[in-house]
Amino acid sequence: MVIGASGQLGSDLCEELDAASFDRRSPSHAELDICEHAEVAAHLRSSRPAVIINLAAFHQLDRCEADPVRAFEVNCHAVRNLAEIAGDLQAHLVHVSTDYVFGGDQEEPYEERSAPNPLQVYGVSKLAGEYFVRNRSQRHLLVRTSGLYGTRGSSGKGGNFVETMLRLGQYGRVSVVTDQVLSPTNTRDLSSMIVRLIRTRATGLFHVTNSGSCSWFEFAKRIFALSGQDVELVPIPTSESGSAVARPAFSVLENRRLKSEGFGLMRSWEDAVGDYLRQRTRAVAAVR
Ligand SMILES: NC(=O)c1ccc[n+]([C@@H]2O[C@H](COP(=O)([O-])OP(=O)(O)OC[C@H]3O[C@@H](n4cnc5c(N)ncnc54)[C@H](OP(=O)(O)O)[C@@H]3O)[C@@H](O)[C@H]2O)c1
Repeated sequence: MVIGASGQLGSDLCEELDAASFDRRSPSHAELDICEHAEVAAHLRSSRPAVIINLAAFHQLDRCEADPVRAFEVNCHAVRNLAEIAGDLQAHLVHVSTDYVFGGDQEEPYEERSAPNPLQVYGVSKLAGEYFVRNRSQRHLLVRTSGLYGTRGSSGKGGNFVETMLRLGQYGRVSVVTDQVLSPTNTRDLSSMIVRLIRTRATGLFHVTNSGSCSWFEFAKRIFALSGQDVELVPIPTSESGSAVARPAFSVLENRRLKSEGFGLMRSWEDAVGDYLRQRTRAVAAVR
């Protein structure tokens, strides 16, 4: 059972699950709102899925700051409900969380065992959701990831960073922050790793991102170099970005458990974004 299947991660994950011959159900948001606790309980108790995958989230940072009640409803209380039902049904609960549970005040990548210290409502609400998953469902897989982009585009954020850059690039000049460092992650790669983790019945917390790291500025530079767009890319500090919401200056996730438990690392973020852009070019050509 995939909740949040229409999102950018959800759509790629559903393709991977289908390719791996899982018997998949994926109710839409209109059919199943995770904030409707009784309906969620009835739905899950009648369908009794072996695996429940939750990708639904309220993740626009500024909207979370403005409406912390809603942020906690979606990212925490609804997750607690899911975790309790999954626990009762002895289902495997797979839940996706974020690099924004970290404060960004260290220079080494954050391991699964590193202490979180979220800076904004979104991160605090996601971390609270994580704790309910850990404490209320016996069999769970928690996946923290970062900087997602996928062909479907984030439904919550209205697109993704790559598409935003390509759109803004048409105007010839784009300003991007240099002082936030992360590991951008292609949702196809993440989906295929999540399916591997589910197949091997992996449990507990995993950090899963493409390898390597960069600032948003370096990410944009790579996007324009690969797309061949001639753009004046202007480096700016976060203080000039116009956003009032605190973000970690460094949120690179060490994928320690993937390494130590033999899953191996995912490909580099450079290769992953190159692949995304090639696929995008093919898709645009096919439409024409
Ligand atoms: N995007 C990132 O850069 C990023 C980074 C790190 C971690 N994450 C985490 O990764 C996960 C997936 O992110 P994403 O970028 O794929 O998100 P997304 O594209 O915005 O997709 C979210 C999905 O959840 C559904 N949804 C939202 N609220 C719901 C509710 N109350 N009940 C049922 N369904 C609901 C949405 O449906 P509608 O569109 O119909 O509302 C959509 O299908 C989230 O947990 C997010 O916190 C994301």
